[in-house]
Amino acid sequence: MTDRYAVIGNPIAHSKSPAIHAAFARQTGQDLTYEAILGPLDGFVACVRQFMRDGGKGMNVTVPFKIQAVELADRLTERARHAQAVNTLKFEADGSILGDNTDGVGMVRDIRDVLGVPIAGRRVLLLGAGGAARGVLLPLLEEGPAGLVIANRTPEKAEQLKALCPGRGEVDVARFDELGGQGFDVVINATSASLGGEGIALPAGIYGAGALAYDMVYGDRPTPFMLQAREQGAARVSDGLGMLVGQAAESFYLWRRVRPDTAPVIAMLRAC
Ligand code: ATR
Repeated sequence: MTDRYAVIGNPIAHSKSPAIHAAFARQTGQDLTYEAILGPLDGFVACVRQFMRDGGKGMNVTVPFKIQAVELADRLTERARHAQAVNTLKFEADGSILGDNTDGVGMVRDIRDVLGVPIAGRRVLLLGAGGAARGVLLPLLEEGPAGLVIANRTPEKAEQLKALCPGRGEVDVARFDELGGQGFDVVINATSASLGGEGIALPAGIYGAGALAYDMVYGDRPTPFMLQAREQGAARVSDGLGMLVGQAAESFYLWRRVRPDTAPVIAMLRAC
């Protein structure tokens, strides 16, 4: 029987997830359907339960329901607990719901495996201390960077994020104006500045030789952060389209135990 999956969010019309999962299913020969569901703002839980009753096997959860999904899940993976956000639900055979968060590992695999930039043993700068930064922190630390610095416009929030760190590696906090000349290997923009069309006030010298600047945001054009990174000497820049496909691949793996190849799907989306 064909298994059913879906993404739930509000708004949802422009979600790329159905196209991504359809491509994964074709690539791996898995028999499944994947649809987009507009979740009512006051009816997320009822909508998920209805999809379960209708025979759904799992869902992706996107804005604005990722935190409600934490409450809904009967069990959480460690990375979802740490992120305090769930982007993947797996409906188990016993009727229970597992909540996972694949955003961080999707980004890490995009950087490491698709872009070919190692994180292990490298100096990493994480810009931002909101939900997006929190979602990637544990998977980044699990790669074993030589050091990870969190910098945020409001320094207290960076301190709060550091305090939540699970003791898996060295984490420091810095103000933006303290970053000058530090020469990081990987700089990740987890702020929402690019969404507002803004750059970030960063000093010169944050990019070391061969450094990657990675923006979690994606769009038709390079983001302000990417443009600024090129000017400031980053050897490579990337948007977050590969993270989007990467998180989808990890959800697919959780559900199907088959890991799709993300590179051709990223290329397909870029060509659209
Ligand atoms: P998200 O869930 O996308 O992380 P959030 O929790 O609202 O959203 O966090 C937004 C992050 O982007 C914060 O780290 C914010 O910095 P502050 O804590 O100082 O508000 C950061 N941010 C947003 N606009 C920014 C800008 N123009 N320059 C620098 N940082 C910015």
